[in-house]
Amino acid sequence: MKPCSLGVAYLFSFITLAVAGSYDYKDALQKSLLFYEAQRSGKLPADQKVTWRHDSALNDKGENGEDLTGGYFDAGDFVKFGFPMAYTTTVLSWGLLDHHKGYETAGSVEECLKAIKWATDYFIKCHVSEYEYYGQVGSGTVDHAYWGRPEDMTMARPAYKITASKPGSDLAAETAAALAAASLVFRSSNATYANILLQHAKQLYDFGYKYRGIFSNSITDSQCCYTSTHYEDELVWGAAWLYRATNDKTYLTYVDALWDSFKNMYGFDWDQKFGGAVVLLAKLTGDSKYSTAITNYCNYVFQQGSRTSKGLIFIYDWGPLRYALNIAYVCLQAADLGINTASYRAEAKKQMDYALGDAGRSYVIGFGNNPPTHAHHRAASCPDKPAVCNWDTYHGSQPNAHVLYGGLVGGPNKSDIFVDDRTDWRHSEVGCDYNACFQSMLAHFVELGY
Ligand SMILES: *[C@@H]1O[C@H](CO)[C@@H](O)[C@H](O)[C@H]1NC(C)=O
Ligand SMILES: *[C@@H]1O[C@H](CO)[C@@H](O)[C@H](O)[C@H]1NC(C)=O
Repeated sequence: MKPCSLGVAYLFSFITLAVAGSYDYKDALQKSLLFYEAQRSGKLPADQKVTWRHDSALNDKGENGEDLTGGYFDAGDFVKFGFPMAYTTTVLSWGLLDHHKGYETAGSVEECLKAIKWATDYFIKCHVSEYEYYGQVGSGTVDHAYWGRPEDMTMARPAYKITASKPGSDLAAETAAALAAASLVFRSSNATYANILLQHAKQLYDFGYKYRGIFSNSITDSQCCYTSTHYEDELVWGAAWLYRATNDKTYLTYVDALWDSFKNMYGFDWDQKFGGAVVLLAKLTGDSKYSTAITNYCNYVFQQGSRTSKGLIFIYDWGPLRYALNIAYVCLQAADLGINTASYRAEAKKQMDYALGDAGRSYVIGFGNNPPTHAHHRAASCPDKPAVCNWDTYHGSQPNAHVLYGGLVGGPNKSDIFVDDRTDWRHSEVGCDYNACFQSMLAHFVELGY
């Protein structure tokens, strides 16, 4: 690991001393929304606040020339991976639906609607016919061989789709979940848009249910980064969201049909939907089989799961903070249903406060005490033009040229150690999916008055 030379003046300009366990969740929420702005691909709107970003990837097209501009760059790279993007959108919509008051208090309702719509407008474009959905634009290997600004990209950006003969039930059902959840979010402000979202959600769900397969076997380029392990969990999760959006009990019969292959799963992340699906079904149906499942899961992770010595739930060494916060968020949802409310809320707050500073530093860029300044993020690392930006920029010890406000980095290793090093992407990268439960949980904390 190379040592990092932090620009001292630069560093101190972002320090706000925080008392352990007492953080400005509202500020973190507002910054997280800025992070999503910084991830925008396509033509940027006039009200874009992250002005070091510019229009990019304006030639993203499907095989027949369909316009596939828009959506989000996945992480520190410029691939548009539909699977984690859909998961992100479902979770952001979930947070806005269930913690609307938190967003109101933070003055961030409009910004969150924009963050969701930036993805849902893109998903609609990608759904080019009933059984054709573009699940990725840009190739992992080709994209990752480039270090520079998104505005300057010249490499080929192939588009990959799922079809009836190359299915992706997980991708289709997660996107259905996102669109169904977003339809609920937009119902009161624009019923026309909500109906369009719901229409696509239903069609995509039927596509996924009818033509079974794992998307990463069909879109093999995604295997660099997002190999999916099952599709039953997305089919359950998607059905739960469609049930919430439609009240159509047919979707619950799908859940019943899938239950045996789903009930012994675990986790909640871009790949695993178990925790989110059971807690949502517990809320929607009141059926004790779902509340038992989420209780057992939360109790297991909170009481027996692996942790660092400073208390972070530690599932995996690639982006550990998001796994901890994802679990904390679904258990916080369980707490809202009256399941071990005080202890689950306390644990969720502990996990969040670890990320915000309790372990001795902030893991959120531009927030709190000693935040990361060397995140693995191509766009933020590049100084404004005409400066050159390339692999030398990547390998340099200088801090990123732009502050990627609100981006949650991967986090520490199992020894609670974090090296603020751009080349250590497992720990220093950011990702759309990393910020999703993080942001929804912040909205919940603001709502709870924490
Ligand atoms: C509502 O959504 C529709 C469909 O996207 C759009 O054409 C229309 O402009 C929207 N209306 C408002 C008031 O934003
Ligand atoms: C954590 O990182 C430090 C510094 O790179 C290293 O010495 C230590 O072995 C790592 N711990 C684990 C569990 O990987």
